[in-house]
Amino acid sequence: MPKKIYLEPSRTLMEFRLLPGLTTGETTIFNISLRTPFVYSKEEQAPYFLNIPIVAAAMQSVSGVRMGIELAKLGGTAFIYASQTPSQQAEMIRQIKKYKAGFVPPETVHPSTPIRDVQELTRKRGYNTFPVVDEDGKLLGIITKNDYDVKPHGDLAVQERMIPRAELTVGVNIEEIKEANSLLRETHQSVLPIVDETDRLLYLVFRKDIRNHLDYPFEVLDAHKRLLATAAINTHDYEKRVPALVEAGVDVLAIDSSDGHSSFQKETIEWIGKHYPQLPVIGGNIITEDGFNYLVEAGARAVKIGMGGGSICITQEQKGTGRGLATAIIKVARERDAYFKKTGKYIPLIADGGIVSAKDITIALALGADYVMMGRYFARMEESPTEKVTINNQVMKPYWGEGSARARDWKEVRYYQAQFVEGVEGFVQYAGNLKDNLPETLSKIKASMSSVGAATIRELHEKAELEVVSALSIREGKAHDIYLPGNENSYNVTNWGN
Ligand code: IMP
Repeated sequence: MPKKIYLEPSRTLMEFRLLPGLTTGETTIFNISLRTPFVYSKEEQAPYFLNIPIVAAAMQSVSGVRMGIELAKLGGTAFIYASQTPSQQAEMIRQIKKYKAGFVPPETVHPSTPIRDVQELTRKRGYNTFPVVDEDGKLLGIITKNDYDVKPHGDLAVQERMIPRAELTVGVNIEEIKEANSLLRETHQSVLPIVDETDRLLYLVFRKDIRNHLDYPFEVLDAHKRLLATAAINTHDYEKRVPALVEAGVDVLAIDSSDGHSSFQKETIEWIGKHYPQLPVIGGNIITEDGFNYLVEAGARAVKIGMGGGSICITQEQKGTGRGLATAIIKVARERDAYFKKTGKYIPLIADGGIVSAKDITIALALGADYVMMGRYFARMEESPTEKVTINNQVMKPYWGEGSARARDWKEVRYYQAQFVEGVEGFVQYAGNLKDNLPETLSKIKASMSSVGAATIRELHEKAELEVVSALSIREGKAHDIYLPGNENSYNVTNWGN
């Protein structure tokens, strides 16, 4: 006989609906806070808290430097994927840490570079301002597309067309965006180069970025005002990888595994606890109470839940292991709450895999998760590290699982022991910039919380009432018995007049 058989089927998030509670002036969407604990700590600020309950999955097709920067600016974090060498991954963390809102690490050109090459660089990069520096990195000038016309100037060297250093207003060792702004305001330049005391170029500050900076009130910053940077690790090479990531300035680590209930995770967490006691580690993924207790006892400061639900995931099909995400959250959250009562330690839970829409997020939170991790959602964005393609006239981006053959080209991925794949490779519809998509998702979450009468995620945990719905009521919840023209671009309407 097996150890346990559950005859109740496990549930997915899609099978639940929230019942409305009392909405008051305190719970209108303007009063709702989405701040949420990130990892267990006695302190209540970053890196232990996030300003939104959403993080991006540690996947090659999702979380690179751009996603890491943009999502931290918007209040969350993207876990830089571990399916690359430790030094490559550490370099990504370093770049996120180096980033200062509005301060752009510049790509430079040499004074002898031909103008033709600058034009090619402009085409490749999509921007046209290049500082000119000598071999020591000292600023000699700036060249933009306004300074040349490639027909007459293509063969000239950059130094013959650049605006020379002497004619530029330059900031020395400026660290505050406000200071850069006041200098820039007095010039006609669209960009302010920042140099050190020996005139070595450090950053560029663009006028347009200063304006943008004011649009990021929720950015997650560390004690030195640098963006939060997080990374995934595996249980094979942590003795090499973790020191490289720490050196680069990583704030929080997450062990990336489809089955985290393992002695390898315990060893990894304990090793990090011994060598870097201040560095929080997230364990997972698990879907049982036993898995939760095992990782928390090993020292995990948050735990990721979910197995088999991801949009690119075929783990359930391949191995027959898994559980509906809703059931997994319910069971583990109950255990987490008991653990909190017993020890006073609140372990945040992350719902991971298969979360498609804002309502899935709210339901995961209502069931007891503190934040969610998503891959597909972010793979669709401009900031994911992939190139756009057109398929059947639709703009798409590629998206592949970390256990797919494509990601496995990197040998030590989470699924590396297996002789079979656990993930697929496909495409997702391109959605545009994160900044244009995320606010809508967040405002839907707030609208649901407002209906429940919860001003915070903690209140949502306490006040939410949920109900399992039938397949028919899910159908009823969609638009029905009405003609919807769908995706047809044009259709004939004959107006019958009055
Ligand atoms: P999504 O948000 O539904 O796309 O799911 C993303 C999640 O799927 C990730 O955070 C991982 O937990 C999981 N995942 C990533 N790659 C694979 C894979 O190749 N097989 C199974 N699960 C995966």
